[in-house]
This record gives sequence, structure tokens and C-alpha cells, in this order.
Amino acid sequence: MNRFVVRFLRTAPLAGALAAAVIFASLAAALAGAQKFPEFPDVRLKQGRAIWPGTCEACHANDVAGAPLVASKASWAPRLAKGKEVLYKSALGGLTGPKGTQMPPRGGNEKLTDDQVKAAVDYMMAIVK
Ligand code: HEC
Repeated sequence: MNRFVVRFLRTAPLAGALAAAVIFASLAAALAGAQKFPEFPDVRLKQGRAIWPGTCEACHANDVAGAPLVASKASWAPRLAKGKEVLYKSALGGLTGPKGTQMPPRGGNEKLTDDQVKAAVDYMMAIVK
């Protein structure tokens, strides 16, 4: 057998294992992404999920602007207690907290309709944990 073929046959299982590892890693990443933004059968939540990652995720999933994070049920508890209508109002009109942290009106995305902003609030409330 040709020297190169022998070398190939020796390394092929390793290459296969590496390829499998790469495929597994990307699958795991895709699954992690799906878990990060869960889907719900509810139509309203589907609408909200279509909005949320593009506009709201930037602050509410990353600790950058002092926004209450979806990963923190504790920081949402006092806000949820205000009731959904108040939360809608804050999301639509903006809110400056006592520490100067700012929720910009419509999350800074003027293109969103009132209903889209509200759907994004609904989705965010569904994924707070
Ligand atoms: C630029 C960062 C930023 C973006 C983008 C953003 N938020 Fe916020 N959001 C904040 C901050 C900061 C607060 C907390 C303000 C405070 O201190 O009370 C907040 C608070 C909120 C609250 C709680 C309001 C209350 O009454 O307690 C809701 C609801 C909310 N955001 C919804 C959204 C939605 C929906 C979007 C996307 C359309 C969004 N946010 C995008 C920064 C952001």
C-alpha cells in the first residue's frame, strides 16, 4: 500500500472523531441558543419572541445598562408586582430608575408598534427565571 494511503488510514479515525466533536459542539451551541430564548406554542409569545432578541435582549440579557435581567427572578419580582399595564407603559414610554438607569421608550426601537412592544413584554415575562 502506498505510504500516503497508510498515513491516511491511520489518521482517518482521528479526523472522524474530530469532525464528530465539531458537529457535537455546534449542536450543543444551537441547543444552548434555543434554551436561551425558549419558544412557546402561544401565538402572542411567538410574536414577542420575534421582537425580543432584536431589541430587548441587548440590555435585558446582558449586564450592560443596569436593566433587570431575564435570568434574575428576584430583580423582576417588584416590577411584576406593579402589574402588566404599568410594565407596558414603562416599555412604551420609557422609565428612569432611582439610580439613574434608563429604559428607553420602545427599547430605543422607534419602528416597533405599541402591540409589538407589549408582545415583547409578554415574552420577557414568560422567560424570566
Ligand atoms: C438600552 C437598554 C435597554 C433596552 C434595549 C431595553 N430595556 Fe427595558 N429596561 C432597561 C433598564 C435600564 C430598565 C430599568 C429601569 C429602572 O431603573 O427602573 C428597564 C426596565 C424594563 C421594564 C420594567 C419596567 C418597570 O416598570 O419596572 C420592562 C417591562 C422593560 N424594560 C421592557 C423592555 C422591552 C419590552 C424592551 C424591548 C422592546 C426593552 N425593555 C429594551 C433597559 C433597556
